Amino acid sequence: MRDIRLDQVEIRFPVKEGFVEAAAGVTTTFQSGEITAIIGESGCGKSVLGLAILGLLPIYAQISGSIWLGENDLFRMSPKQMRNLRGREIGFIAQNPADSLNPVRKIKGQLMEAIRLSQGDFSEHNKKLYGLLKDFGFPKEQLTRVLQSYPFQLSGGMKQRISSAMGIASDANWILADEPSKGLDNDLREQTYENLRQIKKHGVEGMIIITHDIVLAEKLCDSVAVMYSGQIIEKGKNVLSNPRHPYTKGLLDSFPSHGMHAMEGKSPAPGEIMLGCRFASRCSKAMPVCRKQSPTEYGNNEEMVRCFLYD
Ligand SMILES: Nc1ncnc2c1ncn2[C@@H]1O[C@H](COP(=O)(O)OP(=O)(O)O)[C@@H](O)[C@H]1O
Ligand SMILES: [Mg+2]
Repeated sequence: MRDIRLDQVEIRFPVKEGFVEAAAGVTTTFQSGEITAIIGESGCGKSVLGLAILGLLPIYAQISGSIWLGENDLFRMSPKQMRNLRGREIGFIAQNPADSLNPVRKIKGQLMEAIRLSQGDFSEHNKKLYGLLKDFGFPKEQLTRVLQSYPFQLSGGMKQRISSAMGIASDANWILADEPSKGLDNDLREQTYENLRQIKKHGVEGMIIITHDIVLAEKLCDSVAVMYSGQIIEKGKNVLSNPRHPYTKGLLDSFPSHGMHAMEGKSPAPGEIMLGCRFASRCSKAMPVCRKQSPTEYGNNEEMVRCFLYD
């Protein structure tokens, strides 16, 4: 079982006005055997962090630090090594099935291609194909039709289940899902939860789920990491029931299930040079030190908060 360990991960994008700092020195471990949620306001750097783990950052991104999967530093691997690793080691579930399904190829070919990435015995591939479809809720009578279909011939729910099946078809050890339930109606959202449970049952080493869906995080995740302005500011198993960082409290209150009290102010522009805590200007608990010094992490990797209140 291998954890995914981020060590001082910095990711910057050069832009006209200077640079956007999407990850500002992220050090954290995604524990194998666990499902970790990453939550945080839009633009805080969740997807960029996910792309970094998948080796899919654009070429002009400036990176430093390390992302370790076992003995491999993903930042030091060649594009070819990364291509091999994606799918086999880390599977990806896109937010929109359209992003993972090829519109001009039939479902069977696409699923088979993913299955072929796995190291499994060739003679077992067909069996595996049918097994996967069964696990993701396709009854026997539907199989022939579904496999011979193009994505546009399937319902939204079916496409979603196929795209989840594809995410694990190659026997990836880790799964990363970026907002898998975003923009879905109730039924499809429930279906997504079920898909993710099914993926877990397939014995993956670990999962990272980037999400704005607090219900998903509550139902499925063992641990929650909260991101703010390119940093992880709190992490732990009880973050949702017992938030400690003032930002996490504000964020949770802003969710529909918690009364939808919008948080005041907005996060600093990425790349903005700041003295002190990046949340200080919005924080009702801010003390003089918070505006002068950047808080370090208090606690350990399992239960961490980056806030002087816990000094
Ligand atoms: N390819 C890119 N070029 C320049 N800036 C980018 C690029 N991708 C993301 N960003 C910026 O990085 C920050 C983090 O983005 P992102 O990770 O997508 O946020 P989110 O938490 O909503 O997923 C944002 O300010 C975004 O505008
Ligand atoms: Mg995103």
